[in-house]
Amino acid sequence: MASRLGVRVVPTPPRGTRRLVFIFSLSLSFTYLCYSLIFCGHSIMQKPLAFPEHRACYLLQRSQHCGHSAHPNSPGRGHAAPNRTLSGRSPERDRVSETSPRPGSKRLPLAIIVGVKKGGTRAVLEFIRVHPEVRALGTEPHFFDRHYEKGLEWYRSLMPKTLDGQITMEKTPSYFVTREAPKRIFSMAKGTKLIVVVRNPVTRAISDYTQTLSKKPEIPTFEVLAFKNRTLGLIDASWSAIRIGIYALHLENWLQFFPLSQIHFVSGERLIIDPAGEMGKVQDFLGLKRIVTDKHFYFNKTKGFPCLKKPESSSTPRCLGKSKGRTHVQIDQDVIEQLKEFYRSYNIKFYQMVGHDFRWD
Ligand SMILES: *[C@@H]1O[C@H](CO)[C@@H](O)[C@H](O)[C@H]1NC(C)=O
Ligand SMILES: *[C@@H]1O[C@H](CO)[C@@H](O)[C@H](O)[C@H]1NC(C)=O
Ligand SMILES: *[C@@H]1O[C@H](CO)[C@@H](O)[C@H](O)[C@H]1NC(C)=O
Repeated sequence: MASRLGVRVVPTPPRGTRRLVFIFSLSLSFTYLCYSLIFCGHSIMQKPLAFPEHRACYLLQRSQHCGHSAHPNSPGRGHAAPNRTLSGRSPERDRVSETSPRPGSKRLPLAIIVGVKKGGTRAVLEFIRVHPEVRALGTEPHFFDRHYEKGLEWYRSLMPKTLDGQITMEKTPSYFVTREAPKRIFSMAKGTKLIVVVRNPVTRAISDYTQTLSKKPEIPTFEVLAFKNRTLGLIDASWSAIRIGIYALHLENWLQFFPLSQIHFVSGERLIIDPAGEMGKVQDFLGLKRIVTDKHFYFNKTKGFPCLKKPESSSTPRCLGKSKGRTHVQIDQDVIEQLKEFYRSYNIKFYQMVGHDFRWD
């Protein structure tokens, strides 16, 4: 992080330097402001994470999401055609970037974490963005599902700036179950690399329900929602908590457009047991040197979750917030058995499609 700050400040023109230093020191005083702007309950926000304040601001600097969420169509963004020189700067860009001094240009993502909800996508994004060659949008843009009509330039304007050779990434877990998403991503760039974090569909469903319940305590019980007719053991596959876990079904849509070699599957279970191992494979897939390794992680036994060790320049470790790894509601064991039974054939189909046994049975 320290070196990134250096990169950001050093190459700026003298005129802007004092202003930058001023803005930067101001930003430290305004971490709370950043925090509230970042986690402003914006519709495209996922569940906020309890990151330390400096991290919130770091997210701001990286993603510039606060500014965009306030003025998504602010003038000067759309027509700033990227100039892909090494520094990516141009006179026009300098004017545009008075509030965003980082050099580089905004580019469409080369890799997208497309799913799945409650699979561990936030963890993968936070872990991979430790890599210096990766720049990621901190929030979920929901471009290929909810905001497609806003166009690619709008989408690009959300992205953090990158230097040549850096990989722009975003994550929006609902893409995986959005019928139009594969075609739309393909038409943006057919070489886009796709990452899917998958997890036992039964625990995924319960985790999904637990999250919904925490926002809407009045919803019916899991057992009620899971069945069309419980006496008959008829699972309601149209309930999103259950439908999302039918991975084989959704994957078929993606394989109409992308070869399997362009899709990398992360095991949500392995990610918790062996984050460095799973992240090693993600880095290989992205063509990156394995820089995120064992050294970056420690396991928080209380949370039962791996955390990133603190960056040198900060005082607090980066750990996923309260909402992650929250205790699941208790579900009747016979319902769990019926769900396992329901998913069994879909899981086997999925293992065959991807050529990997995730051992969920
Ligand atoms: C990009 O910048 C370089 C160097 O300043 C310049 O030669 C080139 O014409 C610029 N290209 C565009 C598309 O603006
Ligand atoms: C469930 O199926 C049983 C047996 O067919 C039927 O008697 C019952 O009315 C059904 N319940 C509902 C809620 O549809
Ligand atoms: C581990 O997680 C617990 C519960 O969220 C938290 O209170 C504690 O500070 C964490 N410990 C470390 C070393 O991160």
